[in-house]
Amino acid sequence: MIDSGDFFSYISGIPELHEWLAELPRHVYDWRMREQNHGLPEYESCIWKLGKLRTDSFSFTDDYVTVGSGSEVSESFRPFLLDMLREFKPWKKGPFSVFGIKVESEWRSDFKWNRLQGLISPLAGRKVFDAGCGNGYHLFRYLGAGAELAAGCDPSTVSAGQFHLVKSFIRKSVPAYLIPLPLEDFPAVSWFDTVFSMGVIYHRRSPVEHLEILGSLLRSGGELVLETLIVPGDGRTFLVPKDRYAKMPNIWFIPSIESMRLLLERTGFRVRSVSQGTVTTADEQRRTEWMDYESLDDFLMPGDRTLTVEGYPAPCRAIFVAEKQ
Ligand SMILES: C[S@@+](CC[C@H](N)C(=O)[O-])C[C@H]1O[C@@H](n2cnc3c(N)ncnc32)[C@H](O)[C@@H]1O
Repeated sequence: MIDSGDFFSYISGIPELHEWLAELPRHVYDWRMREQNHGLPEYESCIWKLGKLRTDSFSFTDDYVTVGSGSEVSESFRPFLLDMLREFKPWKKGPFSVFGIKVESEWRSDFKWNRLQGLISPLAGRKVFDAGCGNGYHLFRYLGAGAELAAGCDPSTVSAGQFHLVKSFIRKSVPAYLIPLPLEDFPAVSWFDTVFSMGVIYHRRSPVEHLEILGSLLRSGGELVLETLIVPGDGRTFLVPKDRYAKMPNIWFIPSIESMRLLLERTGFRVRSVSQGTVTTADEQRRTEWMDYESLDDFLMPGDRTLTVEGYPAPCRAIFVAEKQ
């Protein structure tokens, strides 16, 4: 069952997180009730049908988050496994290798991971939280980098389904947990060593509130890793799209590097480093058989790939590493 029961057992031994224990289970219960008509029973049924498929072999250090090898499943079983994996489409984040089947997601999330690894404090032994973690691809990579705990939240039901499916194949208990709730449901705990927010802030109506909640989860001196779309400009520049940005309806504001730095400083962070902007390419975001809707190519202006179809600057992303004061 996708009910975060394993996470609640895990944190029952951590007094600093007892407020989460008091608050979050009822929110997860409400989420389960709401999602009954939005695919949750179907995802759980697939996971249940694959219940006997377990492996001791997994790797979180390769570009493909890998569980199991092709030799562990018979040729006659493989089409069934493939069908089950397809039930969880669209796979936006990844890639994954599941018993030899390559799940080629829309995003090469390993590109982002490879860009940020050299910028952040090493994760070995750290307790990590990822706000808006999608299907948890990066949660597995944090464990691969030695994190002691990789917890994340994301209210998307298909993402929770994908995460639990992948994790369900691993026989050993691994400390990666996805709680299917929005960040705003999490009480302040001042406990985590590193908090990630990647690709989320421009979806929020209130970026300041988002930063304040992220700060409330970090211990003093802890590290925030914030990744966001950016636009060219100075400390006064924020792009508020008139309607859509790159066809996305839910983009509220996009900062420049300088305005993002200012917001971080105003909300109690000391910015330690900022990456250069990276323009998103069709190598990193593309349509695949696992995500066969529109993708980057359809979001850019025909004939001028420096602009979105709406005429805004094409997607460019930066990573901010900041310390909670
Ligand atoms: C662009 S994706 C980024 C996923 C992942 N962090 C990455 O960088 O690959 C944005 C994610 O934020 C999630 N999200 C949106 N609002 C959220 C909120 N209030 N709390 C937590 N997650 C949220 C969405 O469901 C979506 O999965």
